[in-house]
Parts: sequence; C-alpha cells; structure tokens
Amino acid sequence: MKINKSLPQTFSLTAPFYDLIYQHRNVGKEVRFIIKHIHQRLPHTQRLSLLDIGSGTGTHAILFGKQGFDVTGVDRSAEMVTIANHKSLSQKAGARFIHKDFLTFTSSTKYHVVASLFDVVSYMTTNNDVRSFFTNASTLLQNNGLLIFDCWYGPGVLLSRPKVMHQRYRNEKFTVHRKKTPTISYQTNTVSVLHQLTVLDKLRERKSFKETHVMRYFFYPELEGYLQLAGLKIIEWGVIGFPLRVPKNPPWSIYIVAQKTR
Ligand SMILES: C[S@@+](CC[C@H](N)C(=O)[O-])C[C@H]1O[C@@H](n2cnc3c(N)ncnc32)[C@H](O)[C@@H]1O
Repeated sequence: MKINKSLPQTFSLTAPFYDLIYQHRNVGKEVRFIIKHIHQRLPHTQRLSLLDIGSGTGTHAILFGKQGFDVTGVDRSAEMVTIANHKSLSQKAGARFIHKDFLTFTSSTKYHVVASLFDVVSYMTTNNDVRSFFTNASTLLQNNGLLIFDCWYGPGVLLSRPKVMHQRYRNEKFTVHRKKTPTISYQTNTVSVLHQLTVLDKLRERKSFKETHVMRYFFYPELEGYLQLAGLKIIEWGVIGFPLRVPKNPPWSIYIVAQKTR
C-alpha cells in the first residue's frame, strides 16, 4: 500500500481549536473522581507521580499538576504538545509535556499512576498496538500502581449507531463549524470519522480542512484479556460515579481502573 506522506498527523490542523471545541467537558469532575480513587488505593504516598498518555492540550495534566502531582504528559502531536507546554507555563502548573508516540516511549521513571483520558486508547486500532499500549503502560507503573483510562465501548457504539453530526463553536476569535461523518467497520471494530472543519476568524477569513479519526470500540472481555496479558487487573469499570457504576444502558465510552499486579 502506498502511504501518502503529505497527510497531516491527526490533530495537527485542529489543535488550535481543540480547547474551544471541547470547552464544555467537565474535566474538573473527572480529575476529582480520579484523585479520590488514587487516594483511596494509594493512601500513604506523598508526592504522587502521574504519566498522562495522549495528554493533548494538557487540560487534565494541568489540573493534576495544580493538585500537587508530579505530572508528565506524552503526545504524538507536536502541535498539541506546544499548546500544553505553553498553558502549563502560563498557569504555573508544573506539568511538562513530551512529543512522542507512546508506543515508542521509554522512561526510567516508574509512575504511581498512568492515566489516558478522553478515549486515547481508541486510537490504538490494531491488536498489536493495543497490546503494546497496555504493556508499555504497565512497564511504566510501580508495583500496585494504577492505570486509569476510558475508551469507546462496543455495546454503546453499536446500539446508538454513529451518525452524521453538525456542530458549531464560537469564542471571541473564531467560529468553527464541524461536520463529522462516521463509517463503521464491523470487521475491525472501528469507526472512521471524517472531521470537516470550516473556521471563520474575526476578519471573516475562512479556512477549511479535513482530518480522519479512526477509533476502535472495545468490549469488556477483550479489555480484560489485554490488561491481564500486561499484568494489570481491572478493579473497577463503568461510568463516573464514586465508585464507578456498571452501566445499565451501555454508554458510548467507559472508564476502567486497573492495578498492576506483577
Ligand atoms: C481526543 S485527544 C485527548 C487529549 C486529552 N487527553 C484530553 O482529554 O483532552 C487524543 C490525543 O491522543 C493523542 N494520541 C493518539 N495516539 C497516540 C499515541 N500513540 N501516542 C501518543 N499520543 C497519542 C492525540 O495526538 C491526541 O492529542
């Protein structure tokens, strides 16, 4: 297969609009929930270290940094990393961000917590990548350390069926129109979502661009298997509540808290 080298990396064009598009997410609630978990499971640890995989523009990592965590973020998008480092510096959060694909990321540091939030795991679309992701996450954890992540959940995705969506976001600088067109593959358990953005700036200049996000949806038993293989045991899963609630109606995305067992 010929690879089109001119295709931009996912998020490289949309990075400047990411925080505007996702401004209404309740990241504070997620971070509070995760911190409660960490304190419950690792009660006597003084300064907790946390690795945020797929840290994006740093929204979670910066909040963890402000709560006293020693935070490192890693992301394969250079544009997202630049924004995250800039935000962390200007907000004095102390979090640092590294530009690297996590699948090839190595470090001699062992972390108390590895987090990967907002469906980063779903960007691992092949079995090999999923295995490498969890194995690497486990290698970077201390014994009894926690892996906390969320990902697209097969039953929720299949029952609600991905649909074409039109969205509009606005701040003092830009108006962004986004059309998302999904194509599902029942063979690879992925949804390829074409994002078409039109951005209008204050001077009424218009720019348009496209990005395709291929997302894998997962089922509980396969996640359990992948995690087990990596030496991780699921201790809670479901939707946010405290503790996590096993869903009655399948949601689009689920959280998993796993602990390193070996
Ligand atoms: C939906 S964004 C989530 C960003 C951030 N965690 C948040 O909650 O806003 C997914 C992020 O994962 C990153 N990503 C995807 N695959 C990656 C990989 N293999 N290694 C590092 N980063 C990855 C993307 O570049 C992107 O910044």
